[in-house]
Amino acid sequence: MTEEKIRVAVCPGSFDPVTNGHIDIISRTAKMFDKVIVAVGVNPKKTSSFTVEERVEMLRKACAEFENVEIATYQGLLADYVQHVGATGIVKGLRALTDFDYEFQMALTNRKLNPEVETLFLATSAENMFLSSSMVKQVAGFGGDISHFVPVCILEQIQNRICSGGNANG
Ligand code: PNS
Repeated sequence: MTEEKIRVAVCPGSFDPVTNGHIDIISRTAKMFDKVIVAVGVNPKKTSSFTVEERVEMLRKACAEFENVEIATYQGLLADYVQHVGATGIVKGLRALTDFDYEFQMALTNRKLNPEVETLFLATSAENMFLSSSMVKQVAGFGGDISHFVPVCILEQIQNRICSGGNANG
C-alpha cells in the first residue's frame, strides 16, 4: 500500500503587519495544500514596526479560522527552512507588475538553493491590487481609515502602534 504524502506549503513574508491581501493568499493556499505554514522571516537588520512576537500573534488571530494553517518564524535562508519543514511549495501573492522583478529573483534564487521546491504565484484579488503593509502604515500614520485593509481583529493593535509613532523597539 502506498502511503499518501501530506502536501505542505510555506507562505513566507515580513507581515509587518499582516493585511487582507496576505489573508486572501493564505486562505486560497489553504484550499490547495494539506498544511500551510505562514512563516515570518526574522531579519534583525531590518527596522520593523512590530516585533516578531507581535507579528506572529496578529497572524494567529487573523488565521484562527483556518484549520490547516499554522504560524511560525524562520531565520536564515528560506530555502533551508522550507526543506527543514518538508514543504514542497513556496506560495506568494503577485500584485501589480512592480512585484514581478523582485519576486522572480527570489524564486530563481530559492530554486537554485533548493531545486526540490517550487515557488507558486497567486494573482492577487482585484481589491488588494495596491494593498501592502507599508501602504497600511502610511494611511494609519496620517490618521486614515485602514478598516478595509486589515483583519478587524487586529485593527486596534495596528492603529495604536502606528498612531503613537512607535516601532518594534518601542
Ligand atoms: O514580505 P517580504 O518582505 O516580501 O518577505 C521577504 C522574505 C522574508 C520572504 C524574504 O526576504 C526571505 O525569505 N528572506 C530570507 C533570506 C533568504 O532566503 N534570501 C534568499 C532568497 S531572496
